[in-house]
Amino acid sequence: MSRLSSRHLLGLEGVPKEDISRILETAVSFREVIDRTIKKVPTLRGVTVLNLFYEPSTRTRISFELAEKRLSADTVNFSASTSSVKKGESLRDTVQNIEAMKIDMVVVRHRSTGVPYFLTQCMAANIINAGDGAHEHPTQALLDMFTIWRKYGRLDNLRVVLVGDIKHSRVIRSNIWGLQTMGASVALCGPSTLHPVEVEKFGCDVYTNVDEALDGADVVNVMRIQLERQQSGLLPSQREYTNLFGITKDRLKRLNKNYTIMHPGPMNRGVEIASEVADSDNSVILDQVTNGQAVRMAVLYLLSGRQEEEGM
Ligand code: CP
Repeated sequence: MSRLSSRHLLGLEGVPKEDISRILETAVSFREVIDRTIKKVPTLRGVTVLNLFYEPSTRTRISFELAEKRLSADTVNFSASTSSVKKGESLRDTVQNIEAMKIDMVVVRHRSTGVPYFLTQCMAANIINAGDGAHEHPTQALLDMFTIWRKYGRLDNLRVVLVGDIKHSRVIRSNIWGLQTMGASVALCGPSTLHPVEVEKFGCDVYTNVDEALDGADVVNVMRIQLERQQSGLLPSQREYTNLFGITKDRLKRLNKNYTIMHPGPMNRGVEIASEVADSDNSVILDQVTNGQAVRMAVLYLLSGRQEEEGM
């Protein structure tokens, strides 16, 4: 098994189909590992991974840390709030000092778009984007695709509807690029105030009416509505958003019985998604979380170059 075409994972825009397929296929064997009693393999023994989180995270941070531990890597967790960032140290100085302690790979989340790319310019480590501003969250989209692929056995010729804040959602962006590369039909739905300028350039069907968007959907991936944005006047009131865009059982009645409900978390229950939908048999929300570990193990493994050393 050869390396991916890049030594970093900064986003899914422009990532070739062969790379995405390789990650998903590799994740299948790691998915089996995490179901074992002893959920650990020696694959990344001797590799040191820095988890550099400048923004809050539950799923992504814990999932990466567990993925690293299950691969036997050494892990270091950085938190901006307890670091010398508080004393004014720059990002470049922070990462170069940590790298001087012999770090091989960095998983980074930051509120600013482009920070993962910036790190590739000032560090030798492999860089993995764990969410940068409104830009991309590639491992979330990869685990979303893995979950869909495991259920349907394919990604092509499926209609995937992404509902929410299209303008600010890095999860939506990474899903668009990845799903389109893999041959899925992608539809976007959200308030017109939350459509980015030139939204049509994504090459997706774009809706402001959720009932029209859901027509013929195989997968409905519901995004968190960022309640903090309500102050900026881009959202109608929370109640109006729920009335117009909230995913309820009633709205899903007309879909094929085998439809799938997804959400990357954290959820606002009763706002963008009704609890009875989130907890229904069609929901794979917790499967997404479990699969995330396997997908992140695959990404770490494939970027590390260990498969070449092993002659795989
Ligand atoms: N899906 C996701 O990125 O969740 P966290 O913010 O908890 O990592």
